[in-house]
Amino acid sequence: MTKQDAGFATRAIHNFYDPLQNEGALTPPIHLTSTFAFETAESGGRRFAGEEAGYIYSRISNPTLDILEKRMADLEGGEAAIATASGMGAITSVLWSFLQPGDELIVDKTLYGCTFAFMRHGLSRFGIDVSYVDLTDPANLVEAISQKTKIVYFETPANPNMRLIDIAKIADIAKPFEARVVVDNTYATPYLTRPIELGADIVVHSATKYLGGHGDVVAGLAIGSQEDMEVTRLVGMKDMTGAVMAPFNAMLVMRGLKTLSLRMDRHCENAHAIAQMLAHSPAVQSVYYPGLETDPHHELAKKQMANFGGMIAFELVGGYEAGITLMNKLKMIHRAVSLGDAETLIQHPASMTHSTYTPEEREAHGISEGLVRLSVGLEDIEDIRADLEQAMSGL
Ligand SMILES: Cc1ncc(COP(=O)(O)O)c(C=O)c1O
Repeated sequence: MTKQDAGFATRAIHNFYDPLQNEGALTPPIHLTSTFAFETAESGGRRFAGEEAGYIYSRISNPTLDILEKRMADLEGGEAAIATASGMGAITSVLWSFLQPGDELIVDKTLYGCTFAFMRHGLSRFGIDVSYVDLTDPANLVEAISQKTKIVYFETPANPNMRLIDIAKIADIAKPFEARVVVDNTYATPYLTRPIELGADIVVHSATKYLGGHGDVVAGLAIGSQEDMEVTRLVGMKDMTGAVMAPFNAMLVMRGLKTLSLRMDRHCENAHAIAQMLAHSPAVQSVYYPGLETDPHHELAKKQMANFGGMIAFELVGGYEAGITLMNKLKMIHRAVSLGDAETLIQHPASMTHSTYTPEEREAHGISEGLVRLSVGLEDIEDIRADLEQAMSGL
């Protein structure tokens, strides 16, 4: 069943699955199988040769993953998708597929810690030249890009400091060089931003976050053209990373997608209220949230995002020490990494998610030592506010 013209929430719930074709089962069956039987030996050979459609082995494709992949491709406005074992599985499968020694990769200065580690300590070991450029100003890309540039990679909003990058402007600059633009859309989700519609070539996700939404699965997705996803599936994922999603996890991500729009509305509403509260607190030095009119990325956010998201970063007047005190005084909000869950989560990037950077690298990449990251959850706003207020009192 395909309802291409339906709204986002309807498509996230219904598309590409018809219960009446599956014994009436409302939820898609979990095809818990490693391999698939061939009717004849010749048929198996034809499938391997790509001459006949059909499943072979679950590291390549699986009917449960198929539904999720089609749904996500549709929601992101892409032609095809691949479902991976984690966000890092999606990022590495894509990048291994399209890079070779001597190529250049331009990445934004602010990246999630393990993505940065992959660029800095992984790809660079294999003769790939990685340049770190501040892409918040597209003019910097004009300076840096060359015929050697194969990929331009960034997050928007970026983890952890909430910088936004103008996807359409970056895509315009990259296009004449035939460099693929790859966007990590984990923070925004396709409900708020659809990078492919703005000119990007590939979108990657940590589906562990808002897409799954319940803190019970580690998963990833990549979305792009039919051709790029075929290469990513058969080269990056099948042969190089083996990072395929488990069928059970595909079911959990599909369950998450069913409420994505509702949850994102509430995440945005709660985060906006908390950002305003922090901005008015004398204990807080800076708040980074694109929904605040004073935020340097506010205008771009209004252009590129349907709403401002559920993530906030902030610095306290008392710096690192005050941040640690605040975190330890919280009673309901959990001290935990990850984001996009129903529970509000708080963490300290410099000692946790971004400890893969050296202190000097953090300084050069604009990630301050005192920064605190808050993933605003779905609890009653009064309770989130009250917990933060009691923890900030006396700071
Ligand atoms: C923006 C972003 N991208 C990618 C990842 C990696 O995803 P995963 O943990 O699912 O491998 C994360 C994880 O925190 C992230 O925050």
